[in-house]
Amino acid sequence: MLRRSFLPHGWLLFSMSLATLQTTAAGQDDGPMLGTARMTQSDMANGAHTLDEVRAEGLKIFATPFNRLDGYGDGALNPLDTTSPGGRPSLQNNGTFLRVNGLDAQTCMECHSVGSNATVPFTFAVGGVGGANNNAFFQPKEIDVDDESGSGFAAFDGRFINPPFLFGSGGGELLAAEMTLDLQRFKNLALSVPDVVFDLDTHGVSFGSIEFDSVTGAMDFSNLEGIDEDLIVRPFGRKGEFSTVRAFDIDAMQFHMGMQPIEAVGQGVDDDQDGVVDEILTGEISALHVFNTNLERPEIRGWNTDARNGFAHFVSAGCADCHVPSLESRGKELIYSFPEVETNPLANEFMRVDLSTSPAGFAPNSTGGLTVRLFSDLKRHDMGPDLAESFGSVLDSQYVTARLWGVADTAPYLHDGRATTLTDAILLHGGEALSARNNFAQLGAAQRTELLTFLKRLRTPIDPAADLLP
Ligand code: HEC
Ligand code: HEC
Repeated sequence: MLRRSFLPHGWLLFSMSLATLQTTAAGQDDGPMLGTARMTQSDMANGAHTLDEVRAEGLKIFATPFNRLDGYGDGALNPLDTTSPGGRPSLQNNGTFLRVNGLDAQTCMECHSVGSNATVPFTFAVGGVGGANNNAFFQPKEIDVDDESGSGFAAFDGRFINPPFLFGSGGGELLAAEMTLDLQRFKNLALSVPDVVFDLDTHGVSFGSIEFDSVTGAMDFSNLEGIDEDLIVRPFGRKGEFSTVRAFDIDAMQFHMGMQPIEAVGQGVDDDQDGVVDEILTGEISALHVFNTNLERPEIRGWNTDARNGFAHFVSAGCADCHVPSLESRGKELIYSFPEVETNPLANEFMRVDLSTSPAGFAPNSTGGLTVRLFSDLKRHDMGPDLAESFGSVLDSQYVTARLWGVADTAPYLHDGRATTLTDAILLHGGEALSARNNFAQLGAAQRTELLTFLKRLRTPIDPAADLLP
């Protein structure tokens, strides 16, 4: 209520303060942080840049603290949609940090910068995780600090999310693309052969089955598992909402910083009415995508007998049913597309990178693809009421299986960072994971220690992107 009533007033204040700020800035030496040398999509598509040049440009986009002259911040408020990027009211009415529902940082690095939390002090790494203080607040409507609702505890609705790392993300994206292609093929087969059940098995993961019913003339999706009816594998975002890192990056730019990519709002369009157009070029999003997806993969270090025994307990407890130790890709090359077509990851290619030779460094397998030891099935699972969000959606309690690679270094755990130890993270599993959780709880002390020893061998890369750093 309070927020509503100050909207029109805030709108007026906003317009005035922006005008004042702009006049002041013109008289100073300040300029946009991105400068004037910008990477274009056509140069990239024409092969004008080496992979390392593109990565370096991506690092720049990832790590530059944008300012108002770059287009930082939201513009005019949209009273009809006060929760989407571009329309959010901000506390200061001038489009700077609000912290809740975005405008929460100047650079991606602020939240993705911890390489390992297993050391004291933590080690820095580009593209790493964030601590609880970097958690993002997505679309909260009620923050009930003093328990006005009388539930007995302070409550928060909306999404509260802890930043994961981006290491190895190219491997996840490559697998998702191949899996999506397979599932789309199954869908077309089912359409052409009615009344036959098609199992949606790809890369050793089952997404249930579909059948085209000739009587109803509709696809029967009732046996689908862990994926939307469009049969697109979406590994990114803890809720499994993005099929590629590019798609995530476009939203991240707008949500966290009010930086509007051309591909989101159009060329020459000042969608957020902050006086800056073409805030992030298409070539810059491409470079960001390439940089993110060529970051080194996590790795297993210090393998020994205890870890091997622990891995056996991990399998027998049922953990590996969801946290599938490795997925094998068919190809080695990640294909970059613009514009992306979710149902066809091969469309509109402008660049491809071999993830076995790039810094990503995945191990080639014997069938011409890569072994990606990610410890996930890239599927959504119901994790039970205790981990559920409160949007009132069937997806509230569902999350994509967390990739456990690097987990030794990435506390705190779970989507909101509520677990400060691995044991807590495991014991908080519910829903589909309840029996595995109970199996873990019933392990003897020695076996439990071995299982944790195994998890502590799953490490983040040492010095990712080191070749690009000063
Ligand atoms: C305020 C902290 C914060 C900032 C700033 C931030 N992120 Fe994130 N990032 C997060 C959180 C939290 C998530 C998990 C989001 C979710 O699960 O929906 C995330 C997830 C991601 C993911 C998906 C990773 C995965 O494995 O699912 C990518 C890619 C990403 N961020 C890229 C970026 C880029 C690029 C920027 C800068 C434009 C950026 N982030 C800025 C907090 C941040
Ligand atoms: C039904 C599928 C499923 C099973 C079985 C399962 N998990 Fe998970 N696990 C998940 C999902 C989904 C998440 C993410 C939950 C969240 O973020 O709130 C997760 C998160 C985790 C995390 C935290 C990772 C992080 O980075 O935050 C750990 C550790 C973990 N699981 C270990 C285990 C172990 C050990 C077992 C076996 C005892 C197990 N899991 C069984 C689905 C499963």
